[in-house]
Amino acid sequence: MVFLYGMDYEVFTVNCLQKTANIINLMLTAFLGELYMSKLKSVTHTGSVFAPSPEFLNQANLTQEKLNELNWKAQTDYTSFWGELALEYITWDKPFTKILNETNTPFYKWFEDGQLNISYNCLDRHVAANPHKTAIIFEADDGHVTMVNYQELLAMVCRFANGLKQIGVKKGERLIIYMPNSIEAVVAMQACARIGAIHSVVFGGFSAKSLAERITDAKAAYVITADAQERGGKTLPLKANVDEALQILGDKSPIKSIIVNKRTQEDCHFEKAQDIWWHNLVKDQPDTCEIELVNSEHPLFILYTSGSTGAPKGVQHSSAGYLLGAILTMQWVFDIKIHSDIFWCTADVGWITGHTYVCYGPLAVGATQIIFEGIPTYPNAGRFWQVIDKHKVSIFYTAPTAIRSLIKIDASLPKQFDLTSLRLLGSVGEPINPEAWLWYYEVIGKKRCPIVDTWWQTETGSHMLSQIPGIDKMKPGSCSGPIPGIMADIVDESGNLVKPNNNGYLVIKRPFPSQIRTIWNNPELFIKSYFPKYIANGKYYVAGDSAYLDSEERFWILGRIDDVLNVSGHRLSTMEIESALTLHPQVAEAAIVSKLHDIKGESIFAFVVCKGTACPVGDKAHELSKELVKWIIKEIGPIAKPDEIRFSNSLPKTRSGKIMRRLLRSIARNEEITQDISTLENPAILEQLKKEV
Ligand code: PRX
Repeated sequence: MVFLYGMDYEVFTVNCLQKTANIINLMLTAFLGELYMSKLKSVTHTGSVFAPSPEFLNQANLTQEKLNELNWKAQTDYTSFWGELALEYITWDKPFTKILNETNTPFYKWFEDGQLNISYNCLDRHVAANPHKTAIIFEADDGHVTMVNYQELLAMVCRFANGLKQIGVKKGERLIIYMPNSIEAVVAMQACARIGAIHSVVFGGFSAKSLAERITDAKAAYVITADAQERGGKTLPLKANVDEALQILGDKSPIKSIIVNKRTQEDCHFEKAQDIWWHNLVKDQPDTCEIELVNSEHPLFILYTSGSTGAPKGVQHSSAGYLLGAILTMQWVFDIKIHSDIFWCTADVGWITGHTYVCYGPLAVGATQIIFEGIPTYPNAGRFWQVIDKHKVSIFYTAPTAIRSLIKIDASLPKQFDLTSLRLLGSVGEPINPEAWLWYYEVIGKKRCPIVDTWWQTETGSHMLSQIPGIDKMKPGSCSGPIPGIMADIVDESGNLVKPNNNGYLVIKRPFPSQIRTIWNNPELFIKSYFPKYIANGKYYVAGDSAYLDSEERFWILGRIDDVLNVSGHRLSTMEIESALTLHPQVAEAAIVSKLHDIKGESIFAFVVCKGTACPVGDKAHELSKELVKWIIKEIGPIAKPDEIRFSNSLPKTRSGKIMRRLLRSIARNEEITQDISTLENPAILEQLKKEV
């Protein structure tokens, strides 16, 4: 099978990728300890299948019969399948009459003449039914707990929304939210939704420069931030980064005001003309705020993500379709029981997982959830398990990278805590290796809790592939299959289905309500990125992942087909890091590739060519490496810093000038070079590239 990889053609085979998976498995078994070794072998090598317990099925939201009914309805009457669910689960101010408009493909419109308010659906309707039900249990970095019920949360959102209106925020205007994972971040997002403003949350770990880029692209008029954030016992600046971003933008800054929440005792620079304290903004505001009705297709938010180009893409989501995806997956995949569950998604609101399964999904269904400010390893690697024990968490959703790092630090720590409240576990962001899966299943879930391995993306808005808990048998490492209504398949370039155990492009063949509507300000890039002509002539949503189906029709995700890395479950563009490196005065050229990493999944390996004739070696190379790492932290943020940097006089290129990334990947991974190097313009460079300095 041939894949388009940037401009290079690459040959992928399931065998080769399975080999890669085996290497990860080998690396992981090294630290899992004797106890698991024998079990691991049987899981990895026999491809064991784990059946969910009948007890879980007995209480599950979806029975086999109901699931069959949903699938049958989706197959036979696709649009009314979605229409009926939208009427059942969303409270409409004006119900829609049209379900799907496909006239201007791929700019699909769902429920377009309906009107609603997202904040009403997340708050008011639950306040009416159960005002004192706890909405959020906030666990601060230092362990301090704050709880708010639905009535209190609604009042906070209303006061803040009134404050926003008072300073002139209008429907459709963009606001950047650059905040710690907190109740206030959710309040800010919900307040935007209440008044029809469009938020764009920027993860607090991004640099001032990245923030500036996003402010410019979104033409945001306001920033909502905090003085600083507390993470892992450290106080890290936020407001100072906003100030720096505005300095970078200078006269071109579109920002009118910055709203600052006081989170820490740190002093922060404050300018009267532009800065507003959150507490002053809400002080005299009433507890109620009229909702702004929006059409279903009104943009709820823009969230920037990495693609194959240097600049981050502003993924634009709709209101009603997005909300529907969040609600249905809370019901079907997380099997939420609002009267008994304590739901905890560990993601930060700066990522799509934090949007859908912190800010919108749990509130839209009226659940009680944990929001955690800290990191899994502070004050020690038992923090997750301690929080589960302390708050009696029943549904726990995290990333494989976190699981792997906690196993590595101390696989026996969970034994010190009572985890019997758990009933369902989830995984997201990257493939979970069977070893981590088995540990999660046995040590955390005590073999009682089904694991839902959820595949989805910033662009899909909500889960696309997952086990239906209680029903689907689980095969560690596979995301099972599409949830009802999602027409996912694996195809070749012509759009033909590929045979089982052959890899191909993961596509979604029919539009679905929660999908990306466009790339903010760039509809051409939207079409090019997600409906590319070279796959099935642009007919299908192309996820950018390669995958295969096994003989039992289970989906296995193999990884990205574009120049995107997945480091600790975060998407990073090789181009973006390369562009940032080449801005350094000493760097002439850079190429980024990924290397397998036992905790992060992938790590970043940079090949760098310096300006001038001499390639740095020894101490000089070490010094420059350190400087370049600092440079990347400043340009993009700590998540993009290279783990290794290697200097050389030039990069391997084809005669047409294209960098041979696949070759660099083999070098970074210490693999034998098996690919054809006959087109390599400068073969002598290979020896230098292989040497560590
Ligand atoms: O490659 C897939 C991987 O993460 C990508 C989406 O990244 P992002 O938009 O940042 O969203 C992450 C959280 C939803 C996908 O294209 N990915 C996500 N979930 C899984 C996964 N790979 C394998 N298994 C998963 N469960």
